[in-house]
Amino acid sequence: MLKSNILVAFILGFSAGPVASFHHASPTSRRATTCNGSPDLCTRSFGNVTFVGTHNSYAVGINNLATNQDYNITQQLNDGVRMLQMQTHNLSGVIQLCHTSCSLYNGGPLSTYLGTVKTWLDANPNEVLSLLIVNSDNFPPTSYDSVFKSAGLDTISYAPPSASIPAAQWPTLGTLIDAGTRLVTFMDASADFTSVPYIIDEFTNIWESPYGVTTTFDCSVNRTKGDSSIQMYLINHFLDTLVLGQPVPNPNQANQTNAVSGPNSLGDQFDLCVTQYGRNPNFMLVDFYEYGGGSVFEVAATANGVTYSPTTPIATPIPQGTSSTTGSSSNSAAPTTTRWATVSVLVSSALGVLYVV
Ligand SMILES: *[C@@H]1O[C@H](CO)[C@@H](O)[C@H](O)[C@H]1NC(C)=O
Ligand SMILES: *[C@@H]1O[C@H](CO)[C@@H](O)[C@H](O)[C@H]1NC(C)=O
Ligand SMILES: *[C@@H]1O[C@H](CO)[C@@H](O)[C@H](O)[C@H]1NC(C)=O
Ligand SMILES: *[C@@H]1O[C@H](CO)[C@@H](O)[C@H](O)[C@H]1NC(C)=O
Ligand SMILES: *[C@@H]1O[C@H](CO)[C@@H](O)[C@H](O)[C@H]1NC(C)=O
Repeated sequence: MLKSNILVAFILGFSAGPVASFHHASPTSRRATTCNGSPDLCTRSFGNVTFVGTHNSYAVGINNLATNQDYNITQQLNDGVRMLQMQTHNLSGVIQLCHTSCSLYNGGPLSTYLGTVKTWLDANPNEVLSLLIVNSDNFPPTSYDSVFKSAGLDTISYAPPSASIPAAQWPTLGTLIDAGTRLVTFMDASADFTSVPYIIDEFTNIWESPYGVTTTFDCSVNRTKGDSSIQMYLINHFLDTLVLGQPVPNPNQANQTNAVSGPNSLGDQFDLCVTQYGRNPNFMLVDFYEYGGGSVFEVAATANGVTYSPTTPIATPIPQGTSSTTGSSSNSAAPTTTRWATVSVLVSSALGVLYVV
């Protein structure tokens, strides 16, 4: 649908930005008529929409135990992912996207990643996107602000009126799009509303279900710093397996884990949460998102009461052991070793408490 809108814009000869799915409501204001792929979502509060997110979105590659995704973030976004979760580390003063440690997996600097995000947002003007940053080494928000500014993302970031907002009080997707503030960034630690208001504190706004699950997903409130009854909530729906006592991502069960229904599926955990809380999860973080052939997006579409009808097929899973390194990784760490070669790194890190979740 997106692609065809853009195509229409080209055919009609519009060249200056977000045109095809806007109409001129008045001479001074434009109003989006399609929001995140659907007209129905324009009038819905951001806090009342279910989004699919990729856990460790930058940790792309195959044959490496520290990777959580097969496809780069451009492909993730094209396929429908609308929250990108990431973990940052301090590599000689640079904010770097690494998994647990930069020797285990180095996904390049945040600045490069945000450049890709900016390119995608520019090409998709009717989309609201969220970022979730795990600030592992506690960089101050001002350090992020510099990187966001360089990428041109500060001006399209949503800054809420206060440090925390109940789920019911978020602006609509239409409002965010019309205002040109379509990027909503959350951070787990060290957010400071008074210094950088668009880096939004995660846990006073969102509660999370348990992560690093190796058995059955539940829907308990695992982490929050607020009143979970009125906050948005995120479910961690990625199944790990234990290797030498360490939880690591496991693509082998991802078809079932990501499925619409069945034991321990995304649909299953979703239903459990709705039964417990009477409302849908806002964010659903998954690994190997394309396993299930779009099932994760189907769960979200159904939750939102819209039809899931992708105009292009989503990416196909890349089997482990595939020798080619092309097409699967846009990041610097080329998956040239086998997935299991990472075991040696795990062994060496087992003395320090390093987890690859
Ligand atoms: C990041 O690491 C550098 C040393 O490489 C250090 O000088 C700096 O203080 C660190 N930054 C933070 C936020 O810890
Ligand atoms: C949160 O989940 C982790 C496992 O992911 C568990 O060890 C911890 O006890 C849980 N904490 C709470 C408060 O539920
Ligand atoms: C996942 O499902 C796809 C499509 O049905 C299939 O080709 C693939 O072999 C499955 N992968 C695993 C690990 O079960
Ligand atoms: C959105 O609101 C509807 C109607 O109250 C509710 O059923 C649904 O669970 C809400 N979704 C989210 C993500 O809050
Ligand atoms: C991202 O992956 C797609 C294939 O899924 C590829 O066409 C594209 O070139 C990649 N982008 C980058 C920046 O590597």
